[in-house]
Amino acid sequence: MVYTSRINVLVKKIIQETPLIKRFLLSPINKAALPSFSGGSHITTFIQSSGLNLQRSYSLCGNPSETQLYQIAIKKQAHSNGGSLYWHNEVKEGFKLQISYPKNYFPLSFKAKHHVFFAAGIGITPFIPMMLDLQSNGKSFELHYAAKSKIDCAFYKRINVLFPSNIYFYFSNEGKRMLPEIMQDQLIGTHVYFCGPQSLIKQFTKKAIDYGYPKTSIHFELFSSQPKLDAKPFEVELHKSGQTFYIPKNQSLLKVLLEAGIKVPFSCQVGRCGTCAIEVLSGEIDHQDYFLSDKEKKDQKTILPCVSRCKSSKLILDY
Ligand code: FES
Repeated sequence: MVYTSRINVLVKKIIQETPLIKRFLLSPINKAALPSFSGGSHITTFIQSSGLNLQRSYSLCGNPSETQLYQIAIKKQAHSNGGSLYWHNEVKEGFKLQISYPKNYFPLSFKAKHHVFFAAGIGITPFIPMMLDLQSNGKSFELHYAAKSKIDCAFYKRINVLFPSNIYFYFSNEGKRMLPEIMQDQLIGTHVYFCGPQSLIKQFTKKAIDYGYPKTSIHFELFSSQPKLDAKPFEVELHKSGQTFYIPKNQSLLKVLLEAGIKVPFSCQVGRCGTCAIEVLSGEIDHQDYFLSDKEKKDQKTILPCVSRCKSSKLILDY
């Protein structure tokens, strides 16, 4: 695991933001202050309780200048595999857990002349500290935020108070849609940022490229990777040990290796950070990550096993 050190915290307060979203305020135990962080950072939370071992990453959504509290917001997912249900049903004020130090794979660009944020639902969370950072530095930004309704819109009052002249809401129950066309006619030098479902990120990224945004001006945040619908099973051989593994269609290569006790370093698990990279000696990689460059993908020499798979029947890894 890439995180070498953890911080003990307790849940100081829980706020019901919307019918499905709770905000958790975490304060340090035995520590004067928490590490400072920048807008776009996330933490990984570690909960071990009665045989349960939950490890989930969440954006920090509080003020980066606040070091006595971290804030995260979690949506109760209908098809949760344990994480959001546990947080919503079992975690009470006073609950103790461990968290990682903050990491930031979604930083603000300091080259941007103007920042345009697009959030859908719980995707609002990383943008709050980002906008606070920009506001305190007198930078130019605007937020476009889509939700089902005002009642389902997390932080509605708070962001209206904090950023009264920079936000645009799109509530589907009022027939309003957040459209990628908003990216047209922005100033040259504008950077765009997306956070929400993978389908929205794909749609807005494609449109941004069509509108002529350089790839370096397009930023997005993913917290879960959608399983590949047409994924096929494949075989993997570890060249150094000679071990072979069968990778079923519904499991990642990383998960199979970790469960077999192979110590592969990892962090984001969504193909964003590059921590889990492994050299490939043979086989055709099916790249699904957002980290490697086009050239690196074409070279077929490196795989990110948290998300990428195999187009041929077998991969041989230099491991
Ligand atoms: S763990 Fe981050 S890219 Fe695989």
